[in-house]
Amino acid sequence: MKTLTKRSWEIPESEATPEHVFLNRRQILAGLAGAGALMGSGLGMRPAFAEEDPSAGLYPVERNSAFTLDRPLTDEDAASKYNNFYEFGSHKQIWPAAQALKIRPWTVELDGMIDSPQTVDIDDLLAKMPLEERLYRHRCVEAWSMAVPWSGFPLAELVKLAGPQTGAKYLRFETFHDPSIASGQKQSWYPWPYVEGLTLAEATNELAFMATGIYGKPLAKQFGAPVRLVVPWKYGFKCIKSVVRISFTDQRPVSFWEEIQPKEYGFWANVNPSVPHRRWPQASERLLGTDERRNTLLFNGYEEQVADLYKNMTGELLYM
Ligand code: MTE
Repeated sequence: MKTLTKRSWEIPESEATPEHVFLNRRQILAGLAGAGALMGSGLGMRPAFAEEDPSAGLYPVERNSAFTLDRPLTDEDAASKYNNFYEFGSHKQIWPAAQALKIRPWTVELDGMIDSPQTVDIDDLLAKMPLEERLYRHRCVEAWSMAVPWSGFPLAELVKLAGPQTGAKYLRFETFHDPSIASGQKQSWYPWPYVEGLTLAEATNELAFMATGIYGKPLAKQFGAPVRLVVPWKYGFKCIKSVVRISFTDQRPVSFWEEIQPKEYGFWANVNPSVPHRRWPQASERLLGTDERRNTLLFNGYEEQVADLYKNMTGELLYM
């Protein structure tokens, strides 16, 4: 999404030095080694990366027809090979390195101001939750977008399972922290682990979704297996990947990017074409895997479902 190199703060993505130029030799070699291993096993030739996932038998799940798109689905290969997952590097070709992520055993801890604190095993969670498929748009603050079929369950179901207590106002999400497999986490200038937050009202909005699959299969690792947040009316950086902990709290969480650069990234991060980011104008977006650009829509086109959440808020930076 961005480097920590000050020189590139003010210039548009198209003019910025490609991020791989900033990678040190060791990172490049590690990435190549990962890619080579995959090619050797033949996996690198295929669009799917999740053959060994024990939840594969659960997919595809039934599509919820309430969620429709205004554009074609993004090509699976294009979406699978252009990802942001800083734990595995600050470039887009994350998929080879991300295969190092161990997705079993995997647990999600629910804690904080709730009636039922618990550590849930991912496969127990998958068995418990009402899985469905939803077609959603996804808009990155870097002004690219995709349209994908997520599988998963409403975040509201997980909130129900936790049982928030009176006074709990926010959910704080946390990603795994394991520098031994995620080389990006060896870069100590980043505030690992990746953290994101939502208000309880946002988390129980009908659109808020926990994705466990995509394209009719379990999530490939580069998409944030085995479970990631999807909030399609917000910029993509809110959609935290590979979640291990959700804490209910009365304190507004400070997210990963907000901690790094509070002038550029805030808590709300709702999509708005009229509010430019310091480095990327937001009026239009590039559709991943195509040459097409489209005008960006307020709340990424989900105004009807979410505008009420922000109705009486004054003095909040809702669009950064
Ligand atoms: N989650 C974690 N843990 N680490 C990350 O670097 N990047 C975010 C978000 N979630 C990120 C993350 C950003 S900037 C975007 S745009 C989306 O993931 C990208 O999702 P995708 O790779 O599935 O398209």
